[in-house]
Amino acid sequence: MIPARPEGLLTLSDSSGDPLYRQVYERFRGAIAEGTLKPGDRIPSVRALAKDIGVARGTIEVAYSLLAAEGYIQARGQAGTIVAPNLQPQAPAAPAAAPKPLARPQGEWTHHPTPLPFQMGLPALDAFPRKIWARLGARHLRSLQPPDLAYPESRGLLALRTATAAYLQVARGIQCAPSQVFITSGYNNTMQLVLQALFKPGDSVWVEDPGYPPTRAQLAQAGMQAVPVPVDGEGMVVEAGIAAEPRARAAVVTPAHQSPLCLSLSLPRRQALLDWAERSNAWIVEDDYDGEYRYVGRPLPALKSLDRQGRVLYAGTFSKVLFPGLRLAYLVVPQEQAARFERLCALLAGGAPALTQGILASFINEGHFGRHIQRMRRLYSDRRDATAAGLSAVLGARLRIEPQPGGMHLVARMEGRQADRALAARMVENGLYAHALSRWSEAPDAQSGLLMSFTNIVSAEQAEQLARRILQLM
Ligand SMILES: Cc1ncc(COP(=O)(O)O)c(C=O)c1O
Repeated sequence: MIPARPEGLLTLSDSSGDPLYRQVYERFRGAIAEGTLKPGDRIPSVRALAKDIGVARGTIEVAYSLLAAEGYIQARGQAGTIVAPNLQPQAPAAPAAAPKPLARPQGEWTHHPTPLPFQMGLPALDAFPRKIWARLGARHLRSLQPPDLAYPESRGLLALRTATAAYLQVARGIQCAPSQVFITSGYNNTMQLVLQALFKPGDSVWVEDPGYPPTRAQLAQAGMQAVPVPVDGEGMVVEAGIAAEPRARAAVVTPAHQSPLCLSLSLPRRQALLDWAERSNAWIVEDDYDGEYRYVGRPLPALKSLDRQGRVLYAGTFSKVLFPGLRLAYLVVPQEQAARFERLCALLAGGAPALTQGILASFINEGHFGRHIQRMRRLYSDRRDATAAGLSAVLGARLRIEPQPGGMHLVARMEGRQADRALAARMVENGLYAHALSRWSEAPDAQSGLLMSFTNIVSAEQAEQLARRILQLM
């Protein structure tokens, strides 16, 4: 029998960087693994192969001894050298399963490096007290000590958790200890912790309809079922949730200013939701992203302030009251769940930068936070009125701006089923910004409207000029 020669064995390369014995060894190993050389096949003698490929016999001897030591080949004396009879050729690797497609909100959610007029989710970027922040930042940098350079606690700096707990008590009526507060890098991060800690794939969760699309995307990504529950003038219709999915494990709600309609969850509905959660051992996630910004009367206390049975997880953020580039938010969990979340944070949370957390704790403790919120409440009330007036002056016949008690954007209703989608897309293409209300809903008869932030519109004149650009796109 002619001894087998793996294809390509004769083409060793001086320039590959690998010694020649190694190249011979790799070729044989590869040929065996691919099945080109099969168990029991004879391979050339040392002398013949050395002659064939023009290398010293010692080179082939070293390669063969390595292959023999690793069990690939066996020397059989007079019978020559063969591929080990008991070797299994490696099955070709099964193609890796395609990763699950990523769930993400559709529509106008692209990131814009420079904010566009009416861009949603932004506070007044021109009104943030940058000088105060810079002064505090410089102070923190100057006073850095070696221990400050070590790993911070993954659940957040004690100073910031303490300052947050104190603020929540005064401003939102929430009684909690710093051990119940977890600092995160934003709402998405908060939701990831909550979903990992308390739920499993397949669980159903009520979400508001219309409602914040990233919440639905988060649930889909976690393999959970978002059950749309309609919203009326009093907020989420709890009875409709019970009728649609009584065994839901949780409800995610925005009680202060329903996102996106900006109305508040009424007291009877708050009570009904808490009763359902208690009866069904379900959880309520309260997304209180901008509860501070109410322009008629005082801000309403958080739903969490009524939670006697420890069913509410409270998600707050510093993105709206300060600025989203900060990437700091927080989660308040019931006391009985604190240890579980602490372990989960140690496992999953990257931890927020200690320096930024320290600056923020000082900003709160020294009174700048409270003063900033007061100023912003007045400023937003003015900017909202100015924006509504400017838009109505030009577009009044086509858009109906709803009066609303709070929030950071306007809801401008328009006629025509899903007519909002094309207009919002045209606005974004033309350097303006709006979200199509109908995209925030699963309902087939979802109403059309534009969601437009007013926080960075400084006057009615500016709003009018922008409205004229919108008119041209209609
Ligand atoms: C409904 C809602 N929840 C939460 C957030 C907060 O997100 P983050 O903390 O990631 O900035 C926003 C921001 O726009 C929001 O609109």
